[in-house]
Amino acid sequence: MGFPINRPRRMRRTETLRRMLRETRLAADDFIQPYFVCPGRDVKKPVAAMPGVAQMSVDNVVREAREAWAAGVPAVLLFGLPARKDATGSEAWNDHGEVQRAIRELKEAVPGLAIVTDVCMCEYTDHGHCGIVKNGDVDNDATLELLVREALSHARAGADIVAPSDMMDGRVGAIRAALDEAGFADVAIMAYSAKFASAFYGPFREAAESAPRFGDRRSYQMDPPNGDEAMREVALDLEEGADLVMVKPALPYLDLIYRVKHEFNAPVVAYNVSGEYAMIRAAGINGWIDEERATLEALTSIKRAGADLIITYFATDVAKRLR
Ligand code: PBG
Repeated sequence: MGFPINRPRRMRRTETLRRMLRETRLAADDFIQPYFVCPGRDVKKPVAAMPGVAQMSVDNVVREAREAWAAGVPAVLLFGLPARKDATGSEAWNDHGEVQRAIRELKEAVPGLAIVTDVCMCEYTDHGHCGIVKNGDVDNDATLELLVREALSHARAGADIVAPSDMMDGRVGAIRAALDEAGFADVAIMAYSAKFASAFYGPFREAAESAPRFGDRRSYQMDPPNGDEAMREVALDLEEGADLVMVKPALPYLDLIYRVKHEFNAPVVAYNVSGEYAMIRAAGINGWIDEERATLEALTSIKRAGADLIITYFATDVAKRLR
């Protein structure tokens, strides 16, 4: 065995041979396209730190979602930018809020499209934290009730999947129980289970206008060095009724995507976050990297690691290219 009998290069000689042995293939079905929904009509306000991404009013979200669906993208993820913010983030459960309106209009305009909604308080609170603040920290148990109200409001509007991203303990169980009790047993939960306190969310906080006014999110999001703890978080969310579990960000945490997939055999979602998007875009725009190839390589790696679904700001563009 070994060289010169074995020559792995034999099967790399031509694109046809490489195609035959390719183990991982991206498909439009793998992607979820995020949108930032803002008030108004015909609004499309570019996000400087995320070239190609914009805050959009409902009409423009519907227009872009039609395009995403036509390109084969099965699902979108909605974030809301409310007209006003307060200490408890009460716009989050306004049945006439931007996200709720977007859900209803999308369901009418693109009936097949799966709608996932981000359930969190940070876009809605005036202090920018993901829950109710007491004594300078986010109060876990008091926040659960608000998250439940928000999830129920999204379900009433017609969301298929609610995705709590706050990292409060017990929120999956609380949301599951409330959905079931209100007659929404069919609404699924995509839990941001292993969500790390990451520097890679920087551009998102400009897009969602959700940067905390004081402090940071390290008392509720995970500490980046911890892998075993991520496994415990995933186990808890599955026990509490999560239908899909998420690892976020994606590229710096491929080891955890792999571990979660192999340990739990549950649907694993990876969030290729704003900073990961911005790095590739910025280098591409500057001519420092082949953006198209880098994008496909990054997304393929996430899938190879074990992700069943990838939330990415590249979704529609890549889906179009794959066709
Ligand atoms: C809200 C939320 C954040 C992201 C998704 N949901 C930001 C944060 O936790 O600060 C980040 C997504 C991205 O960076 O693309 N809690």
